[in-house]
Amino acid sequence: MAAKIISGKEVAASIREELKERVAALKKKGITPGLGVILVGEDPASVSYVTAKAKGAEEVGIFEETVHLPAESSEEEILKTVDRLNRDPRFHGVLVQLPLPKWVNTEKVINYISPEKDVDGFHPINLGKLLRGEPCPLPCTPYGVQQMLVRSGYSPEGKHVVICGRSNIVGKPLAALLMQKKPGANATVTICHTGTPDLKKFTLQAEILVAAMGAPKAITADMVPEGCVVIDVGVNRVPDPNSPKGFKLVGDCDFEAIKEKAAAITPVPGGVGPMTVTMLLMNTIEAAERMAL
Ligand code: GUN
Repeated sequence: MAAKIISGKEVAASIREELKERVAALKKKGITPGLGVILVGEDPASVSYVTAKAKGAEEVGIFEETVHLPAESSEEEILKTVDRLNRDPRFHGVLVQLPLPKWVNTEKVINYISPEKDVDGFHPINLGKLLRGEPCPLPCTPYGVQQMLVRSGYSPEGKHVVICGRSNIVGKPLAALLMQKKPGANATVTICHTGTPDLKKFTLQAEILVAAMGAPKAITADMVPEGCVVIDVGVNRVPDPNSPKGFKLVGDCDFEAIKEKAAAITPVPGGVGPMTVTMLLMNTIEAAERMAL
């Protein structure tokens, strides 16, 4: 039987309806949640992500401002901008779109974001809290993956989740989130990475398989067990002469073949992407609610 297609777009739309109500409640108290975004340079993928974040913010009633710095900006200029947004009370959330230019120390910039305003959840204080199971802003993609699973009836509780990819943005925080002794988590988690010999040996043991490697068709149908739930976090641009843009977006999974075997699978685009943006909006609203207390 063909897999159920888990629409991140639909789950995200229903969460955004909830967020609109929370924004309305804050506005009644005279508070408009605000998000400050720093974008450096013209990387087309980054520009497109930032545009999606600004559009999402507008949709739910969040005040959003993007500071667009030139590609040749120095580390000091970026740090100064972070400092300005940290101090600006209109912003409850501050994020720096990654990647940054190669001469900039990304860790230093992330560490400079006020942990209270860190709506990406990338600050080491917040990642430390996540690992310890303390309340903190959750990194948006892992948070989105968890919400998409729970809200579409595939809770990871008690399941074996195999994550392919160990990035600081997805793989590592997702493992920390799903192994917590909490509702919607409590999973047994395996992380695979480029140092894993015989990847297939592990993926075939997955009840939920998360592909976050950043390589098109890295997960093929023979690596997926029957009845598995597959979450594709990959966003890869591959050349497509039939598209007006000259490229198309594909995930890390061989979607067409896997959908004949899996119980459920997320598409790319329209899967994890819209969830990531929505959880950023949720984190911004949560930061505003916390600061309103
Ligand atoms: N670049 C790719 N993903 C992300 C993300 O979730 N947040 C930020 N700030 N930059 C990114």
